[in-house]
Amino acid sequence: MENLVNQHIKALKSRVADPTRSGHAIYLDRNELPYPPSPAVIQAISDAVPLLNRYPDTLGGSLRKTLANYASVAEEEIIIGNGSDDLIELIVKVFMAPQEEVLIPNPTFPVYALSTQVMGGKPRFMKRGVNFDLNIKEIINQVTEATKIIFVANPNNPTGNLVDRQDLKMLIENVNCLVVVDECYYEMSQQTVSDWINDYKNLLVLRSFSKSFGLASLRLGYGIANAQTIDYLYRATQIFPVNTLALLTGMAALTDVEYAKEKIKQVCQERENLREKIEQMGFGVYPSATNFIFVNTKPLGILSADLVQRLREQNIWVRDFGGKLGLEPYYFRTAIGTMDQNQKLQDALGKVMAHG
Ligand SMILES: Cc1ncc(COP(=O)(O)O)c(C=O)c1O
Repeated sequence: MENLVNQHIKALKSRVADPTRSGHAIYLDRNELPYPPSPAVIQAISDAVPLLNRYPDTLGGSLRKTLANYASVAEEEIIIGNGSDDLIELIVKVFMAPQEEVLIPNPTFPVYALSTQVMGGKPRFMKRGVNFDLNIKEIINQVTEATKIIFVANPNNPTGNLVDRQDLKMLIENVNCLVVVDECYYEMSQQTVSDWINDYKNLLVLRSFSKSFGLASLRLGYGIANAQTIDYLYRATQIFPVNTLALLTGMAALTDVEYAKEKIKQVCQERENLREKIEQMGFGVYPSATNFIFVNTKPLGILSADLVQRLREQNIWVRDFGGKLGLEPYYFRTAIGTMDQNQKLQDALGKVMAHG
């Protein structure tokens, strides 16, 4: 068997299952919305249950049209997938052949590199600047014949910062490869370049229901691009990439955008509050356009791995980035929780610092 497995798959690490999550801990390590989804969504799920003996609609069914209205584009300019993760892999599958390259300004969302490796390609990492800004001219210079895709998360995960619209324009205009602008946190940042899809055929925008609509578990994402690109992507999807619960629930979430907006408003207020408090403790905190903050522990001389472990002992989960994605051993990311959860995080951080 061993010799039958593709070399590029053998090169990947084995995966270990995360422990099942209980209600006892505070989970701030996956950038989730801390609130349940809208009542309209909960109703739609129960209405959809009797339909589960049937296969789902293909090509996203009516959700495609509803999303087109929401995003102010045409139905043919939307593709629906099983989370943005699924669409990232699909994009790589369609645009990159084995041995070709994908350019990734790091630190960023690790699924871009993973999907490239799974498809037998080469992720080429470029280092972001001091405040995790993109050096657009340098990226343009690094593009070669072998470069098929550039992934830009906007806002970026884990750093939370936005790329300037003019910079994105400069990038898209000056490269021949596909530029994927991943707007997973769009409703929080309110920044989009989806209005450019017909000006630039090499632009593809990704969005998700996971964060802003509180539907991470459902796995529902979508892409926006010119109709030709969407047609090629749909040629390579599975026949039923998205399940009926997700399709109907996505429709329901879009009938109650006000609910999402209200929750996002609370999260953004809490974010600024938490940011201020953590800064007062002496940590470095980067500005964020989304529902998480990126924290530098270096000013306090604490290794982030130690800090994250000490928080875990107090049942609070944040994500350690120390030594990861090309970073020094001093960074962690925390999602913004409810007011109560954020207070508990501050208290726990206070305890860690008090006990050295
Ligand atoms: C930038 C970015 N893109 C995509 C995703 C994945 O989103 P989904 O849940 O839709 O697969 C995430 C999740 O954390 C993310 O941060």
